[in-house]
Amino acid sequence: MERAVTQPNQILLDVKNLRKFFPIRRGILQKVVGHVRAVDDVTFYINQGETLSLVGESGCGKTTTSRCILRALDPSEGTVMFYTEAGTTLDVARLPKTQLQPLRRQMQMIFQDPFSSLNPRMTLLDIVGEPLLVHGEKDSNKRTERVAELLKMVGLRPEYMRRYPHAFSVGQRQRIGIARALALNPRLVVADEPVSALDVSVQAQILNLMLELQEKLGLTYLFVAHDLSVVKHISDRVAVMYVGRIVETAPTKELFYQPRHPYTEALMSAVPKPDPRLRSKRIILQGDVADPANPPSGCYFHPRCAYAMDICKEKTPVQEEITPQHYVSCHRAKELTLRGVVEK
Ligand SMILES: Nc1ncnc2c1ncn2[C@@H]1O[C@H](COP(=O)(O)OP(=O)(O)OP(=O)(O)O)[C@@H](O)[C@H]1O
Ligand code: SF4
Ligand SMILES: [Mg+2]
Repeated sequence: MERAVTQPNQILLDVKNLRKFFPIRRGILQKVVGHVRAVDDVTFYINQGETLSLVGESGCGKTTTSRCILRALDPSEGTVMFYTEAGTTLDVARLPKTQLQPLRRQMQMIFQDPFSSLNPRMTLLDIVGEPLLVHGEKDSNKRTERVAELLKMVGLRPEYMRRYPHAFSVGQRQRIGIARALALNPRLVVADEPVSALDVSVQAQILNLMLELQEKLGLTYLFVAHDLSVVKHISDRVAVMYVGRIVETAPTKELFYQPRHPYTEALMSAVPKPDPRLRSKRIILQGDVADPANPPSGCYFHPRCAYAMDICKEKTPVQEEITPQHYVSCHRAKELTLRGVVEK
């Protein structure tokens, strides 16, 4: 199943130059001796109704980016413009805490680990109904009705609502997490590795459920994953992150057909390929992922890049739109021909 490429339409979320640095403290006086550059100048947008996937190795800043967007963390710099239901534009990064509550209805999160994100002492009714209560639904009958509707929507039986999370399988728990995230009719759903803890067959069920719900409810997804093969069938566009930065963003098919950044090519070489003509040797990257507390000069990828030249050590590449909607941060993006994994 391939998804149609989205035409540029109305932007729901516009993130510009987002940075989040965590101080590193040492000694009895807890003096700040440096910073972890967890998110380091990230720029992207998500159109209404589309899925943008954010992909990269562990520690590259995916969760920190997601948490800054939802203001679970205060960004160090940058803007996070969100187009609200009321037709206004708000910078989530700068909004006073008191004004965040109404906005939270419109932006919700699904977590990786359905175990730890659900309170074991609460019934499904309490878990899924809690956001309704927090946002002012005092009528318990109405809450129960809405919870029943939500459970049905995610493929669970409403009769289960008096049970506790331990009575359910991991896949069912992820369905509960999705029901809770949808309780308030959000417009943007940030899903942080929602299927990474699941078996492959259950992964497919949850991904299909997410696609169905997107179509039915007109949801917009920011989908976080460390694995390109997971995002291939569900994303309209994919953004690839490396050490706090987005190195490449493109419509899914284009990224898989013709990656333009050497790091994307390396990630791509690990994706299983059904077509034998497209099978190539897996690119094993030399060295370790750079330390975000002490990143290399110039292009952060240069110590591991097979195509690096002198300029790569000296100058930080800027993000350029190489073809429509295909953004790359690499000095050599226009001249390199890199290997993808699908035919056009
Ligand atoms: N609260 C924090 N204090 C200090 N450093 C942090 C904090 N949270 C994250 N980091 C660091 O920021 C970097 C990015 O972390 P983040 O969790 O965003 O990565 P990730 O891409 O989500 O990784 P994973 O795939 O493992 O979930 C890492 O080096 C991490 O150690
Ligand atoms: S800028 Fe240079 S080091 Fe960085 S990815 Fe491009 S070619 Fe490689
Ligand atoms: Mg994470």
